[in-house]
Amino acid sequence: MQKQICLTGIKATGMPHLGNYIGAIKPAIDMANTGSFQSYYFIADYHSLVSIHDAKMMKNYTYEVAAAWLAMGLDPKAITLYKQSDIPEILELHWMLSCFTTKGLMNRAHAYKAVVQENEGLERDSDHGINIGLFTYPILMAADIMILNADVVPVGADQLQHIEIARDIATVFNNTYGSKLKLPKAIVSEGNKLLSGLDGRKMSKSYGNHIPLFSSDKELKKLINRITTDSSGPLDPKNPDDSLIFDYYGQFASAEQTLALRAWYLKGIGWGEAKMELLSVLNSSLSGPREIYAELMGNTSKIDLILEEGAARVRPHAQKLISELKQSIGLK
Ligand code: ADP
Ligand code: TRP
Repeated sequence: MQKQICLTGIKATGMPHLGNYIGAIKPAIDMANTGSFQSYYFIADYHSLVSIHDAKMMKNYTYEVAAAWLAMGLDPKAITLYKQSDIPEILELHWMLSCFTTKGLMNRAHAYKAVVQENEGLERDSDHGINIGLFTYPILMAADIMILNADVVPVGADQLQHIEIARDIATVFNNTYGSKLKLPKAIVSEGNKLLSGLDGRKMSKSYGNHIPLFSSDKELKKLINRITTDSSGPLDPKNPDDSLIFDYYGQFASAEQTLALRAWYLKGIGWGEAKMELLSVLNSSLSGPREIYAELMGNTSKIDLILEEGAARVRPHAQKLISELKQSIGLK
Protein backbone atom coordinates (compact mmCIF):
# COMPACT_ATOMS: atom_id res chain seq x y z
CA MET A 1 0.00 0.00 0.00
CA GLN A 2 1.21 3.49 -0.78
CA LYS A 3 2.25 5.49 2.25
CA GLN A 4 0.38 8.69 3.10
CA ILE A 5 2.13 11.87 2.09
CA CYS A 6 3.14 14.25 4.88
CA LEU A 7 4.19 17.75 3.85
CA THR A 8 4.98 21.00 5.60
CA GLY A 9 6.82 24.26 4.96
CA ILE A 10 8.47 26.98 6.98
CA LYS A 11 8.97 30.52 5.70
CA ALA A 12 12.52 31.79 5.44
CA THR A 13 12.07 34.83 7.66
CA GLY A 14 14.74 34.24 10.32
CA MET A 15 16.27 31.53 12.46
CA PRO A 16 13.44 29.24 13.67
CA HIS A 17 12.44 29.70 17.29
CA LEU A 18 11.18 27.42 20.05
CA GLY A 19 7.56 27.93 18.86
CA ASN A 20 8.39 26.90 15.30
CA TYR A 21 10.16 23.85 16.69
CA ILE A 22 7.30 22.78 18.95
CA GLY A 23 4.54 23.64 16.46
CA ALA A 24 6.02 22.50 13.17
CA ILE A 25 9.54 21.07 13.18
CA LYS A 26 9.23 18.55 16.02
CA PRO A 27 5.86 17.08 14.96
CA ALA A 28 7.11 16.84 11.38
CA ILE A 29 10.33 15.09 12.43
CA ASP A 30 8.39 12.76 14.75
CA MET A 31 6.07 11.87 11.88
CA ALA A 32 9.00 11.24 9.54
CA ASN A 33 10.63 9.02 12.15
CA THR A 34 7.58 6.73 12.37
CA GLY A 35 8.46 5.59 8.85
CA SER A 36 4.74 5.46 8.02
CA PHE A 37 4.72 8.53 5.80
CA GLN A 38 6.41 9.70 2.70
CA SER A 39 7.62 13.06 3.99
CA TYR A 40 8.26 16.27 2.09
CA TYR A 41 9.51 19.33 3.96
CA PHE A 42 10.34 22.61 2.31
CA ILE A 43 11.50 26.16 2.79
CA ALA A 44 8.74 28.52 1.73
CA ASP A 45 11.04 31.16 0.23
CA TYR A 46 8.45 32.55 -2.19
CA HIS A 47 6.21 33.10 0.83
CA SER A 48 9.06 35.02 2.48
CA LEU A 49 9.25 37.28 -0.56
CA VAL A 50 6.01 38.86 0.65
CA SER A 51 8.08 40.64 3.32
CA ILE A 52 11.80 39.98 2.73
CA HIS A 53 13.09 42.24 -0.01
CA ASP A 54 16.81 41.97 0.66
CA ALA A 55 18.72 39.34 -1.35
CA LYS A 56 21.38 38.67 1.29
CA MET A 57 18.80 38.22 4.03
CA MET A 58 16.70 35.93 1.86
CA LYS A 59 19.69 33.69 1.17
CA ASN A 60 20.78 33.59 4.77
CA TYR A 61 17.29 32.91 6.14
CA THR A 62 16.86 30.08 3.66
CA TYR A 63 20.05 28.44 4.91
CA GLU A 64 19.00 29.03 8.52
CA VAL A 65 15.72 27.21 8.07
CA ALA A 66 17.29 24.32 6.15
CA ALA A 67 20.10 24.00 8.73
CA ALA A 68 17.53 24.06 11.54
CA TRP A 69 15.59 21.14 10.05
CA LEU A 70 18.78 19.16 9.59
CA ALA A 71 20.29 20.02 12.98
CA MET A 72 17.11 18.99 14.80
CA GLY A 73 17.35 15.53 13.29
CA LEU A 74 15.75 15.46 9.88
CA ASP A 75 17.46 12.78 7.79
CA PRO A 76 17.59 14.02 4.18
CA LYS A 77 17.95 10.43 2.95
CA ALA A 78 14.73 9.33 4.60
CA ILE A 79 12.69 12.40 3.67
CA THR A 80 12.78 15.01 0.92
CA LEU A 81 13.91 18.54 1.84
CA TYR A 82 13.59 21.20 -0.84
CA LYS A 83 13.11 24.85 -1.61
CA GLN A 84 9.74 26.08 -2.87
CA SER A 85 11.34 28.33 -5.51
CA ASP A 86 13.09 25.31 -7.08
CA ILE A 87 9.69 23.89 -8.07
CA PRO A 88 8.28 26.30 -10.70
CA GLU A 89 5.26 24.00 -11.18
CA ILE A 90 3.98 25.30 -7.82
CA LEU A 91 3.53 28.70 -9.48
CA GLU A 92 1.64 27.14 -12.41
CA LEU A 93 -0.69 25.47 -9.96
CA HIS A 94 -0.94 28.73 -8.02
CA TRP A 95 -2.41 30.40 -11.09
CA MET A 96 -4.79 27.54 -11.82
CA LEU A 97 -6.05 27.66 -8.24
CA SER A 98 -6.27 31.48 -8.28
CA CYS A 99 -8.90 31.21 -10.99
CA PHE A 100 -11.05 29.11 -8.65
CA THR A 101 -10.62 31.28 -5.56
CA THR A 102 -13.07 34.05 -4.83
CA LYS A 103 -11.74 37.37 -3.71
CA GLY A 104 -14.17 37.16 -0.79
CA LEU A 105 -12.38 34.08 0.51
CA MET A 106 -9.07 35.94 0.47
CA ASN A 107 -10.67 38.96 2.19
CA ARG A 108 -11.34 36.66 5.15
CA ALA A 109 -7.79 35.24 5.42
CA HIS A 110 -6.40 36.24 8.80
CA ALA A 111 -2.85 37.28 7.85
CA TYR A 112 -4.28 39.83 5.41
CA LYS A 113 -7.15 40.81 7.71
CA ALA A 114 -4.75 41.49 10.58
CA VAL A 115 -2.86 44.07 8.51
CA VAL A 116 -6.11 45.70 7.33
CA GLN A 117 -7.26 45.95 10.94
CA GLU A 118 -3.93 47.39 12.02
CA ASN A 119 -4.17 50.00 9.24
CA GLU A 120 -7.70 50.89 10.24
CA GLY A 121 -6.67 51.19 13.89
CA LEU A 122 -3.97 53.63 12.84
CA GLU A 123 -6.50 55.50 10.68
CA ARG A 124 -4.60 55.03 7.46
CA ASP A 125 -5.67 53.60 4.12
CA SER A 126 -6.77 50.00 4.76
CA ASP A 127 -4.54 48.77 1.89
CA HIS A 128 -1.46 50.53 3.23
CA GLY A 129 1.68 48.37 2.80
CA ILE A 130 -0.25 45.36 1.48
CA ASN A 131 1.13 43.69 -1.63
CA ILE A 132 -0.82 41.19 -3.70
CA GLY A 133 1.52 38.43 -2.46
CA LEU A 134 0.18 38.92 1.07
CA PHE A 135 -3.39 38.99 -0.21
CA THR A 136 -3.07 35.74 -2.16
CA TYR A 137 -0.70 34.06 0.32
CA PRO A 138 -3.17 31.23 1.10
CA ILE A 139 -3.47 30.29 -2.59
CA LEU A 140 0.29 29.78 -2.85
CA MET A 141 0.12 27.68 0.30
CA ALA A 142 -2.68 25.59 -1.23
CA ALA A 143 -0.52 25.07 -4.33
CA ASP A 144 2.43 23.96 -2.12
CA ILE A 145 0.24 21.29 -0.60
CA MET A 146 -1.67 20.13 -3.70
CA ILE A 147 1.39 19.91 -5.94
CA LEU A 148 2.31 16.69 -4.15
CA ASN A 149 -1.24 15.67 -3.27
CA ALA A 150 -0.34 15.72 0.41
CA ASP A 151 -2.58 13.82 2.84
CA VAL A 152 -1.43 15.39 6.10
CA VAL A 153 0.15 18.73 6.97
CA PRO A 154 1.71 19.21 10.43
CA VAL A 155 1.45 22.90 11.37
CA GLY A 156 0.96 25.19 14.33
CA ALA A 157 -2.62 26.10 15.22
CA ASP A 158 -2.29 29.52 13.55
CA GLN A 159 -2.14 27.78 10.16
CA LEU A 160 -5.44 25.91 10.49
CA GLN A 161 -7.35 28.56 8.57
CA HIS A 162 -4.91 28.25 5.67
CA ILE A 163 -5.48 24.50 5.48
CA GLU A 164 -9.25 25.05 5.52
CA ILE A 165 -8.87 27.54 2.67
CA ALA A 166 -6.76 25.03 0.73
CA ARG A 167 -9.54 22.46 1.12
CA ASP A 168 -12.16 24.99 0.00
CA ILE A 169 -10.21 25.89 -3.12
CA ALA A 170 -9.57 22.24 -4.01
CA THR A 171 -13.26 21.45 -3.56
CA VAL A 172 -14.28 24.13 -6.06
CA PHE A 173 -11.65 22.92 -8.52
CA ASN A 174 -12.72 19.28 -8.11
CA ASN A 175 -16.40 20.19 -8.55
CA THR A 176 -15.52 21.64 -11.92
CA TYR A 177 -13.20 18.96 -13.28
CA GLY A 178 -13.97 15.85 -11.22
CA SER A 179 -11.82 14.84 -8.24
CA LYS A 180 -8.28 15.69 -9.17
CA LEU A 181 -6.88 17.28 -6.01
CA LYS A 182 -6.62 15.66 -2.62
CA LEU A 183 -8.10 17.51 0.35
CA PRO A 184 -5.32 17.83 2.96
CA LYS A 185 -5.75 17.26 6.68
CA ALA A 186 -4.00 19.48 9.22
CA ILE A 187 -2.14 17.82 12.07
CA VAL A 188 -1.93 20.24 14.96
CA SER A 189 0.10 19.67 18.11
CA GLU A 190 -1.58 18.95 21.42
CA GLY A 191 -4.56 21.05 22.37
CA ASN A 192 -4.18 23.47 19.44
CA LYS A 193 -1.86 25.41 21.68
CA LEU A 194 0.65 27.93 20.43
CA LEU A 195 3.79 28.44 22.46
CA SER A 196 3.79 31.88 24.08
CA GLY A 197 6.62 34.32 23.59
CA LEU A 198 8.63 36.17 26.24
CA ASP A 199 5.88 38.80 26.55
CA GLY A 200 3.02 36.30 26.78
CA ARG A 201 1.72 36.81 23.22
CA LYS A 202 2.17 34.02 20.62
CA MET A 203 5.90 33.49 20.12
CA SER A 204 6.69 34.97 16.72
CA LYS A 205 9.64 36.41 14.85
CA SER A 206 7.40 39.30 13.90
CA TYR A 207 6.82 40.23 17.56
CA GLY A 208 10.49 40.02 18.57
CA ASN A 209 9.41 37.99 21.63
CA HIS A 210 11.03 34.74 20.55
CA ILE A 211 13.84 32.48 21.68
CA PRO A 212 15.86 31.46 18.60
CA LEU A 213 16.50 27.71 18.58
CA PHE A 214 20.26 27.99 18.31
CA SER A 215 20.95 30.83 20.72
CA SER A 216 24.25 30.50 22.56
CA ASP A 217 24.25 29.70 26.27
CA LYS A 218 24.84 33.40 26.99
CA GLU A 219 22.00 34.55 24.74
CA LEU A 220 19.66 31.96 26.23
CA LYS A 221 20.48 33.19 29.72
CA LYS A 222 19.71 36.77 28.69
CA LEU A 223 16.42 35.84 27.02
CA ILE A 224 15.27 33.67 29.92
CA ASN A 225 16.01 36.54 32.29
CA ARG A 226 13.58 38.66 30.29
CA ILE A 227 10.65 36.43 31.32
CA THR A 228 8.61 38.45 33.76
CA THR A 229 7.66 36.80 37.03
CA ASP A 230 5.53 37.90 39.96
CA SER A 231 6.81 39.17 43.29
CA SER A 232 6.21 35.98 45.25
CA GLY A 233 9.12 34.89 47.43
CA PRO A 234 11.40 31.91 46.80
CA LEU A 235 9.63 29.74 49.35
CA ASP A 236 6.09 30.54 48.20
CA PRO A 237 4.25 27.77 46.34
CA LYS A 238 3.70 28.59 42.68
CA ASN A 239 1.25 27.42 40.05
CA PRO A 240 3.22 25.60 37.33
CA ASP A 241 0.30 25.80 34.91
CA ASP A 242 0.42 29.56 35.01
CA SER A 243 4.15 29.85 34.37
CA LEU A 244 5.87 30.50 31.06
CA ILE A 245 9.10 29.07 32.50
CA PHE A 246 7.35 25.81 33.34
CA ASP A 247 5.64 25.75 29.95
CA TYR A 248 8.97 26.01 28.11
CA TYR A 249 10.55 23.50 30.49
CA GLY A 250 7.85 20.91 29.81
CA GLN A 251 8.45 21.14 26.06
CA PHE A 252 12.08 20.04 26.36
CA ALA A 253 12.38 18.02 29.60
CA SER A 254 11.57 14.34 30.12
CA ALA A 255 8.30 13.37 31.80
CA GLU A 256 10.12 12.65 35.08
CA GLN A 257 11.97 15.96 35.02
CA THR A 258 8.70 17.78 34.38
CA LEU A 259 6.99 16.00 37.28
CA ALA A 260 9.89 16.84 39.57
CA LEU A 261 9.80 20.53 38.64
CA ARG A 262 6.02 20.57 39.10
CA ALA A 263 6.48 19.26 42.64
CA TRP A 264 9.17 21.88 43.30
CA TYR A 265 6.81 24.64 42.10
CA LEU A 266 4.06 23.42 44.40
CA LYS A 267 6.45 23.22 47.35
CA GLY A 268 7.98 26.62 46.61
CA ILE A 269 10.73 27.48 44.13
CA GLY A 270 12.64 30.69 43.63
CA TRP A 271 12.14 32.27 40.20
CA GLY A 272 15.92 32.39 39.81
CA GLU A 273 16.08 28.65 40.46
CA ALA A 274 13.27 27.94 38.01
CA LYS A 275 15.08 29.96 35.36
CA MET A 276 18.32 28.04 36.01
CA GLU A 277 16.45 24.74 35.59
CA LEU A 278 15.03 25.94 32.29
CA LEU A 279 18.43 27.09 31.05
CA SER A 280 19.94 23.75 31.94
CA VAL A 281 17.27 21.69 30.17
CA LEU A 282 17.39 23.90 27.06
CA ASN A 283 21.16 23.67 26.95
CA SER A 284 21.17 19.92 27.29
CA SER A 285 18.57 19.44 24.52
CA LEU A 286 19.98 22.06 22.18
CA SER A 287 23.75 22.07 22.60
CA GLY A 288 24.21 19.07 20.23
CA PRO A 289 21.95 20.53 17.51
CA ARG A 290 23.64 23.92 18.03
CA GLU A 291 26.96 22.42 16.98
CA ILE A 292 25.51 20.71 13.91
CA TYR A 293 23.74 23.94 12.99
CA ALA A 294 26.98 25.96 13.23
CA GLU A 295 28.81 23.39 11.15
CA LEU A 296 26.16 23.49 8.40
CA MET A 297 26.03 27.27 8.40
CA GLY A 298 29.81 27.22 7.93
CA ASN A 299 29.49 24.90 4.96
CA THR A 300 26.38 25.94 3.08
CA SER A 301 27.39 24.00 -0.05
CA LYS A 302 26.32 20.88 1.88
CA ILE A 303 22.86 22.44 2.28
CA ASP A 304 22.76 23.42 -1.40
CA LEU A 305 23.40 19.82 -2.39
CA ILE A 306 20.65 18.46 -0.15
CA LEU A 307 18.15 21.02 -1.48
CA GLU A 308 19.08 20.31 -5.10
CA GLU A 309 18.61 16.59 -4.58
CA GLY A 310 15.28 17.29 -2.90
CA ALA A 311 14.03 19.41 -5.79
CA ALA A 312 15.12 16.77 -8.30
CA ARG A 313 12.95 14.23 -6.46
CA VAL A 314 9.92 16.52 -6.28
CA ARG A 315 9.84 17.90 -9.81
CA PRO A 316 8.81 14.74 -11.70
CA HIS A 317 5.73 14.40 -9.44
CA ALA A 318 4.95 18.09 -9.86
CA GLN A 319 5.33 17.92 -13.63
CA LYS A 320 3.08 14.88 -13.84
CA LEU A 321 0.33 16.60 -11.85
CA ILE A 322 0.53 19.79 -13.91
CA SER A 323 0.35 17.80 -17.13
CA GLU A 324 -2.76 15.94 -15.88
CA LEU A 325 -4.40 19.17 -14.74
CA LYS A 326 -3.67 20.85 -18.08
CA GLN A 327 -5.50 18.02 -19.79
CA SER A 328 -8.47 18.32 -17.44
CA ILE A 329 -8.64 22.06 -17.96
CA GLY A 330 -8.35 21.83 -21.75
CA LEU A 331 -4.99 23.47 -22.02
CA LYS A 332 -3.54 20.35 -23.59
P1 ADP B 1 6.58 33.24 12.84
O1 ADP B 1 5.24 33.60 13.40
O2 ADP B 1 7.66 33.31 13.86
O3 ADP B 1 6.92 34.04 11.58
P2 ADP B 1 6.05 31.12 10.99
O4 ADP B 1 4.81 31.81 10.56
O5 ADP B 1 7.22 31.09 10.06
O6 ADP B 1 6.50 31.73 12.40
O7 ADP B 1 5.67 29.63 11.40
C1 ADP B 1 6.26 28.44 10.92
C2 ADP B 1 5.57 27.25 11.57
O8 ADP B 1 5.71 27.30 13.00
C3 ADP B 1 4.05 27.20 11.33
O9 ADP B 1 3.62 25.85 11.20
C4 ADP B 1 3.47 27.80 12.57
O10 ADP B 1 2.16 27.36 12.83
C5 ADP B 1 4.43 27.31 13.65
N1 ADP B 1 4.48 28.27 14.75
C6 ADP B 1 4.84 29.56 14.68
N2 ADP B 1 4.79 30.16 15.89
C7 ADP B 1 4.38 29.19 16.77
C8 ADP B 1 4.13 29.17 18.18
N3 ADP B 1 4.29 30.24 18.93
N4 ADP B 1 3.71 28.01 18.73
C9 ADP B 1 3.54 26.89 17.96
N5 ADP B 1 3.76 26.84 16.64
C10 ADP B 1 4.17 27.98 16.03
N1 TRP C 1 2.19 29.60 5.82
C1 TRP C 1 3.09 28.81 6.62
C2 TRP C 1 3.55 29.68 7.79
O1 TRP C 1 3.39 30.88 7.78
C3 TRP C 1 4.27 28.33 5.84
C4 TRP C 1 3.85 27.48 4.68
C5 TRP C 1 3.88 27.83 3.37
C6 TRP C 1 3.31 26.16 4.75
N2 TRP C 1 3.42 26.81 2.60
C7 TRP C 1 3.04 25.79 3.39
C8 TRP C 1 3.03 25.28 5.79
C9 TRP C 1 2.48 24.53 3.09
C10 TRP C 1 2.47 24.02 5.46
C11 TRP C 1 2.21 23.66 4.13
O2 TRP C 1 4.09 29.17 8.70
